[in-house]
Amino acid sequence: MSKVVVISGHPNLESSNTNTVILDEVSSQLEGVQVRRLDQLYPDYQINVDEEQKALLDADIVVLQFPFYWYSVPALLKKWIDDVFSYNFAYGSQGDKLKGKDIILSFTVGGPEESYDPLGYNHFTIEQLIKPLQQTAYLAGMNFVKPIYTHRMVYIPGVYNDLDEVQGRAREHADKLIEQVNELLNSPAKAINRFIQQWFADFDVLPDDSERFTRYLTNDVKLVMTDGEYLGHEGFRDWYQTARSTFKPDCQHIVEQVSIQELSATQHQVELRVRLIADSYPESSLKGESINLLVNESWKVSISDDQAIQIQEYIVTPVDG
Ligand SMILES: Cc1cc2nc3c(=O)[nH]c(=O)nc-3n(C[C@H](O)[C@H](O)[C@H](O)COP(=O)(O)O)c2cc1C
Repeated sequence: MSKVVVISGHPNLESSNTNTVILDEVSSQLEGVQVRRLDQLYPDYQINVDEEQKALLDADIVVLQFPFYWYSVPALLKKWIDDVFSYNFAYGSQGDKLKGKDIILSFTVGGPEESYDPLGYNHFTIEQLIKPLQQTAYLAGMNFVKPIYTHRMVYIPGVYNDLDEVQGRAREHADKLIEQVNELLNSPAKAINRFIQQWFADFDVLPDDSERFTRYLTNDVKLVMTDGEYLGHEGFRDWYQTARSTFKPDCQHIVEQVSIQELSATQHQVELRVRLIADSYPESSLKGESINLLVNESWKVSISDDQAIQIQEYIVTPVDG
C-alpha cells in the first residue's frame, strides 16, 4: 500500500530541468512512494478518474508536484483536479473520501522571490495566489500542509539562470519535501491513524486469536462496551468471545470520523465514529439479523518513542437514530 502519492502535473517532463530532478530524488529517497506522471499517463488529457481516485484512497499524504504556470497549476493538473475531485468523492453529502489526508503543494516558480510582493512586478505573494488551491483542500476536508516552493527555477540558456544552480535548488527543494513527508509520516497522529485502520481491518476478520488485539491493550485496560463494562485482558477476551459468537466474520467497520487530540507527549485522546455492518448467527442474541450500527468510540491511548501504541481506555456508545 502506498502511503504517499505524488501527482506530477508537469505537462512535459522531457523538457523539464527542475521538476524532473525533484521527482527523481523523491522516487529514490522515499520508501513506498507512488509517483504518477500525468504527462506520461494522460498525454491526451483524458484522465482515468477511477484509477486516480483509487491512488488517492490508498494514500495518507498527497503531494501535488508542479511548475507554477500563470500563477496557478498547469492545465493538465487543473484538469486532473476538476475530474478527480468529483461530487460524493471530494465534496457533497458522501464526499468525504479525502477527509483527513494531508496535501502538500510542492512547486517550482520561475520568478524571483522579491517579485512576489506588492511592490514587485508580480504584485501578490505566492500565498495569496494559491488560495483557490488551499480552499479546494479545505472543502475536501484535507489538511493543508505548509506549501514547499522554490523561486528562480526557470532556465533559458544564456538568458535566465545557470543550469547547475537551478538543478542544485531543485535538489534542495526535494530535500525539504522529503523531510516534510517523513515528519508527517512519523507524527504520533499519523501512527495512531494507521493503528486505527489496522485495528478495524483486524476486527472485520474476527480472528480466532484474541492476542492480535490484547497486545495493544494495557493490562488494566478499561472497556466500556454497549453491553457492559470489562476490565483487563481477561475482560477483553470475555467480550471478544461473545462478539465472535454473535457476528459472522467478514463484517465491515467503516471509520466515518476520527479526531485525535494530544493530552501529553505520550498520551492521546481518540474520538471515533464507526459504522458496523455485519451478519449475525441465528443462534446468537441477534437471531441471524443483519445489523447496521453506528457507534461513537472514545479511546485513551499511549504512544512510545518507537510509536508502539497501547489502548488504556476504550468506551463505546451507540449513536441514536
Ligand atoms: C506556460 C508557462 C507559464 C509560466 N508561468 C509562470 C508564472 O506565472 N510565474 C512564474 O514565476 N513562472 C512562470 N513560469 C516559469 C515556470 O514556473 C518554470 O519554468 C518552471 O517552474 C520550471 O520547471 P521545469 O524545469 O520543471 O520545467 C511559466 C512557464 C511556462 C512555460
